[in-house]
Amino acid sequence: MLILGIESSCDETAAAVVENGTLVKSNVIYSQIATHRKFGGVVPEIASRQHLEKIDSVVQEALSEAQITAHDLDGIAVTQGPGLIGSLLVGINYAKGIAYAAKKPIVGVNHIEGHVYSVAFEFSPPEYPAFALIVSGGHTNLFLLNEPEKYKLIGRTRDDAAGEAFDKVAKLIGLGYPGGPLVDRLAKQGNKRAINFPVADIKDNRLDFSFSGLKTAVLRYVRENEISTVTDHENISPQIPDLCASFQHAVIRALVRSVRKAAEIYHPKTLILAGGVACNSELRASITELAATLKIPAYIPSPIYTTDNAAMIAAAGYQKLLRGEKAGLELSADVSIRLQNVDVPIIDPKKKKRYRL
Ligand code: KG4
Ligand code: ZN
Repeated sequence: MLILGIESSCDETAAAVVENGTLVKSNVIYSQIATHRKFGGVVPEIASRQHLEKIDSVVQEALSEAQITAHDLDGIAVTQGPGLIGSLLVGINYAKGIAYAAKKPIVGVNHIEGHVYSVAFEFSPPEYPAFALIVSGGHTNLFLLNEPEKYKLIGRTRDDAAGEAFDKVAKLIGLGYPGGPLVDRLAKQGNKRAINFPVADIKDNRLDFSFSGLKTAVLRYVRENEISTVTDHENISPQIPDLCASFQHAVIRALVRSVRKAAEIYHPKTLILAGGVACNSELRASITELAATLKIPAYIPSPIYTTDNAAMIAAAGYQKLLRGEKAGLELSADVSIRLQNVDVPIIDPKKKKRYRL
């Protein structure tokens, strides 16, 4: 089966053709980072407009690289949410247009489930139970999968996502956007034990994460020690690499600590790490090390599949299309769609929703 995947939930316009859920025929990504960098973060209105400008050429390039036309497809998978409403709608409406014109089935895919499927191209199918730690700019979730497509959320951030913490700290010290890769690079030149930043203690649910206190601790440290922020990348104050290394180490300690505790309870047979922050060199090394201690394989995709892409959406959509799942042309964006479908807690609608899932 040849599936066209389309992803436009945030600031990447992406399209890919994947055969049988595992073989990537094409994977085209247009990143808007250069546009948003000058604003220090993604500007939703500009993002939707750029998606609109690029979506046609990105999809056409994905089809031509795969040496097919829309008529050769067996289905179309498109990101339905979570994400930015305007951005999601561009991908969904374009996908519906092709589905209608070429008479192909279409399915909506949860973006986070897409990240789970980003391991489908370079690894054999995971052994279950599996853990999936999804760490990106918008999400930090630890899922337990006792079987494919059954997601139990066993840990999540109480406030900022891990990538968001990287981006905010980078902004704070003048590094620019997106912060993750820049902090990662500078951390390599610093001493991760130079500053002892705290790892938040989660009292009532010991598998959750919290990163907003860490961000405040960095801010306080910068002020109290009068560290000059970065204005010239060629001439960085010597304290900055130590700060980056110590901050990064605190984020990674928090993530690894929860996965280790969860492993003692659930005994996973595969450890999946995905999402943009999975590009982080220290996180990759620490999760690999943890998996080795647990004597299980770590599935960590190449960077091209960890950050947002459409191949992962096609791989996730393939499973649904294979089962005959099909959306109608009324398919629309769902910005707050959840992935958990096992032991879903009953949420009191009157209670204010604080958590990002
Ligand atoms: O998955 P992704 O491309 O988009 C979302 O779904 O959010 O993740 C983007 C996030 C950004 O916050 C970026 O700073 C972070 O991933 N990131 C990193 C690294 N590369 C990207 N964080 C830490 N270290 C990196 N090397
Ligand atoms: Zn993502």
